[in-house]
Amino acid sequence: MWWRDAVIYQVYPRSFQDSDGDGLGDLPGIEQRLDHLTWLGVDALWLSPIYPSPMHDFGYDISDYKGIDPVFGSLDDFDSLVAAARARGLRVLLDVVPCHSSIEHPWFSEHPDWYIWREGPNNWLSAFGGSAWSPLNGRYYLHSFYPEQPDLDWRNEEVIAAMQDALRFWIDRGAAGYRVDAIDRLLKDPELRDDPPATGEPFGLPLSDEELKLALTHSRNAPDTPKALARIREAVGDHLLVGEVYLPSAKWQPYLEHLDVAFAFELLHARWDASLLRAAIEATTRRPGAAWVLSNHDFGRLVTRFGAENARSAALMLLTLPGPAFLYQGDEIGLADGPGGERVYDRAGRDRFRHPMQWDGSPNGGFTTGDPWLRAVEPERVNVEAQRDDPRSTLSLVRDLLALRRVLGDGLELLEAAPGVLAYVRGEHTIAVNTTADERPAPLDGEVVLETDPGALRGRTLAPHSGAITMGLPG
Ligand code: GLC
Repeated sequence: MWWRDAVIYQVYPRSFQDSDGDGLGDLPGIEQRLDHLTWLGVDALWLSPIYPSPMHDFGYDISDYKGIDPVFGSLDDFDSLVAAARARGLRVLLDVVPCHSSIEHPWFSEHPDWYIWREGPNNWLSAFGGSAWSPLNGRYYLHSFYPEQPDLDWRNEEVIAAMQDALRFWIDRGAAGYRVDAIDRLLKDPELRDDPPATGEPFGLPLSDEELKLALTHSRNAPDTPKALARIREAVGDHLLVGEVYLPSAKWQPYLEHLDVAFAFELLHARWDASLLRAAIEATTRRPGAAWVLSNHDFGRLVTRFGAENARSAALMLLTLPGPAFLYQGDEIGLADGPGGERVYDRAGRDRFRHPMQWDGSPNGGFTTGDPWLRAVEPERVNVEAQRDDPRSTLSLVRDLLALRRVLGDGLELLEAAPGVLAYVRGEHTIAVNTTADERPAPLDGEVVLETDPGALRGRTLAPHSGAITMGLPG
């Protein structure tokens, strides 16, 4: 259970480090930067998809489950990266996308029966808006996401065998496990019946206006989904499986029979308000299985999501909850979202969350010697080099948190605290965050071991937008 309290660093390979000057990140680039990750103190890295892809969804549309896209390098580069990571004690997790392939995967033309077809569309919605069905040769195929991502039929044994083969392929090459994409869409109603109208019972996580009108009981989360997960488990043995299951934690149980952990979306979606954060943490920790995450390539970065003034406290919270935590590249230096398309699920909508990592203060932030696919965001101010030796930087704070995290005790006790203050105990340590713009009393006693900003804790009062950790229990 190496992952039990691990920090897993999300690398978005297209945007981490370019080694060949084409303006796109690649595997040799990641390898060159591994020392940053060991210096920071993370346990593992998770790579968003690196497989061959026409890149309609930047790799979440896979056209070969057992290769490396030439943009990112070769299988040799992958082997070299895994070996270099291992030599530093870092594990490498991959991303697997079982729900759908690329429309350009040879399977789509060679095995059309591996996909899901209907004479005409039903009312199912694509996660990115509009109908989940597109016409082809007089029929309609299902795509839970973009039309270039046709859904595979997980009730077809040949599909399962092909996917198991791919899963084993990367485990045999040294992958430590997988982040499993879009599990809520893996299996749907076998009769492809319409989604009924919404009942008024809240879904528990944000949905689009279109989705809110429907009960979404047939288009996703079919009751036999755990059977499909069991087949994924069968292929990977006891390697780590982290599920992207878009459901509130109260509905995780059947999925967690086969996954190790699931992303805690309730906390990711909570506004920066102590009572909402507390409610999300309380709900999610009622059972084991949470993997904490506050930012990624779909939702944007801490600084933009919670406000620059709260980003450091958000990092403090993320990295002191019990269980594995996922840290998105760039959040350790307080990188902000950059320019991107207007609507999030338009083609370029999520670009704003994906601007390249910034290593130094040069115009491209040291990401590339060429023309970067997306521009740097204030690299002169926000970069690794400038922050490394500054004890007050966000990077130093994150590094200190990673070190401190190793000595936090088991369990979690949420404390009663003043409005606007989130406070909890982990073993011998007490952690508190003030989510407001005013000074607030906090249940912190004992020796101060970490503050988001110097002087954040004044006696038993937390400065606005700050957090602190003390050694000692509230009296
Ligand atoms: C997941 C990924 C997202 C992708 C979608 C379809 O939600 O995180 O980036 O677009 O699945 O594969």
